[in-house]
Amino acid sequence: MSELKAHQIVLAARPQGRPKLSDFRLEETEVPTPSAGQILLRVQYLSLDPYMRGRMDERKSYAEPVPLGGVMQGESVATVIASKHPNYSEGDIVLAQTGWRTHALSDRSDLRKLDPAVAPVTTGLGVLGMPGFTAYGGLRVIGKPKPRETVVVAAASGPVGSLVGQLAKIGGARAVGIAGGPAKCAYVKDDLRFDAAIDHRAADFPSRLAAACPNGIDVYFENVGGAIWQAVLPLLNNFARVPVSGLVAQYNGVGKGDGTDRLPATMREILSKSLTVRGFINYEFAAEHYPAFLSEVSAGIADGRIRYREDFVDSLENAPEAFIGMLEGRNFGKLIVRVSA
Ligand SMILES: NC(=O)c1ccc[n+]([C@@H]2O[C@H](COP(=O)([O-])OP(=O)(O)OC[C@H]3O[C@@H](n4cnc5c(N)ncnc54)[C@H](OP(=O)(O)O)[C@@H]3O)[C@@H](O)[C@H]2O)c1
Repeated sequence: MSELKAHQIVLAARPQGRPKLSDFRLEETEVPTPSAGQILLRVQYLSLDPYMRGRMDERKSYAEPVPLGGVMQGESVATVIASKHPNYSEGDIVLAQTGWRTHALSDRSDLRKLDPAVAPVTTGLGVLGMPGFTAYGGLRVIGKPKPRETVVVAAASGPVGSLVGQLAKIGGARAVGIAGGPAKCAYVKDDLRFDAAIDHRAADFPSRLAAACPNGIDVYFENVGGAIWQAVLPLLNNFARVPVSGLVAQYNGVGKGDGTDRLPATMREILSKSLTVRGFINYEFAAEHYPAFLSEVSAGIADGRIRYREDFVDSLENAPEAFIGMLEGRNFGKLIVRVSA
């Protein structure tokens, strides 16, 4: 791609089920010029996140869908390359909602500046950013694990799940992770030091999960839904808490989901076990909890109690393929596109 031009990836078609490469289109544009009050950003790293799949559908959710022909939304680590805004100078590195582009204008006065001396800047997209805060907020505000309780989380090698289990353990609970395949399970158990890691692709997954939770489940941090929720449901203890963070197993579903309609059974368990099941979007907790999240998790990274993993893909044009793969578990760790050096 030419360095004198800007590039962006737009939504070319609304996906039917699993997104296809033809649902995205790479476009070349001029590099924009900032006017008074604006800054020009060159994107270094683009975050790819499961929520983006929902924005590709017409259906209204907590956020507006991306219009057809619109630039795919997303957060990036970007460098200020020209500034007409008093708060920013050339060379500043910021977290910004740029979308899937190489260059973007911003007139925001509240971009989060990142200091590479404090932590690698990419952590602002993962463990020290929106996914990390999702783990922190969901666990602290809804899950509230107590020492010796059992906390279960799926997508456990990803940026949300990996921090859920590590924070649970730091607080004295037992952490059981669910992940796809032996390599991810070994990482969750050996590197992240969860008490157990169970492969959801194993034929006897429900009985393996039950064996790993001999005292039942007190907190199930829901990232996935579908067949995993079905295996978790009978293991929930009375008064279990279920922060409902995401349902990635059904993001590509059209109508029928994955064929495991357990709604009646779900409602019965909620009633008979007095479960607390609460959905949330991470920013609902931001005003009260964000500063504590940043200081606690930064300290945990600095002293080695909290670990994280990043999965890099090179070049903006490879973002669609990487994004499609993430929805099937081909990423291993926080998925980030290296857009420019
Ligand atoms: N509520 C909020 O504010 C908020 C904010 C951020 C994220 N979230 C949600 O948190 C969840 C995790 O996000 P993340 O950024 O940490 O993603 P991630 O773990 O980096 O990537 C998604 C992972 O989901 C797993 N997965 C996909 N399909 C699956 C299936 N059918 N069954 C089981 N696992 C499946 C895969 O891991 P395996 O290979 O291990 O299966 C895949 O790697 C998502 O549901 C996301 O939407 C919510």
